[in-house]
Amino acid sequence: MRRAIFPGSFDPVTNGHLDIIERGCKLFDEIIVAILVNPAKQPFFTVEERQQMLNGVLQDINQRQCRVRVDSFQGLLVNYAVAQEADAIVRGIRAISDYEYEMQMALMNRRLEPSIETVFMMPAETYSYVSSRLVKEIFQLGGIIDGLVPTLVEKRMKEKMMRP
Ligand code: PNS
Repeated sequence: MRRAIFPGSFDPVTNGHLDIIERGCKLFDEIIVAILVNPAKQPFFTVEERQQMLNGVLQDINQRQCRVRVDSFQGLLVNYAVAQEADAIVRGIRAISDYEYEMQMALMNRRLEPSIETVFMMPAETYSYVSSRLVKEIFQLGGIIDGLVPTLVEKRMKEKMMRP
């Protein structure tokens, strides 16, 4: 039984995240999508809203492929990974620009907890430029985010704009 943690802010979940989860499902029996609770950041969606959206969009993958659970965590990622008896941390790398930060985190996490491996996965080229930050920026400026996030997320973003 191989278990991986896919950590992140997921504010909101994008089609790029879903692509990585689907790919991760080929390597692991269970993936825990873990939302970081970060009191220092002012998010667009609350942790509960993010968790609810993830549960909604992951139903399909859950039935077809591996087991995917959604959870949230505070504090050090490696402590959470050990508590969940995970073997690995999965991170998506889109471009070379991601690499430096990701490598630093992976090596620091390894130093903190050598039993947990970090596995980097590349999303489909279509998603190589998609990020939650850009999706939010484009949406807030009235641009089209069709195809970048699941339909449910787009719907929730519109609702949030109308009733913050
Ligand atoms: O989606 P993000 O914001 O790029 O995810 C970053 C995340 C959540 C993976 C990272 O900030 C993290 O692991 N935070 C938990 C605190 C921690 O363990 N920090 C030390 C990292 S070496």
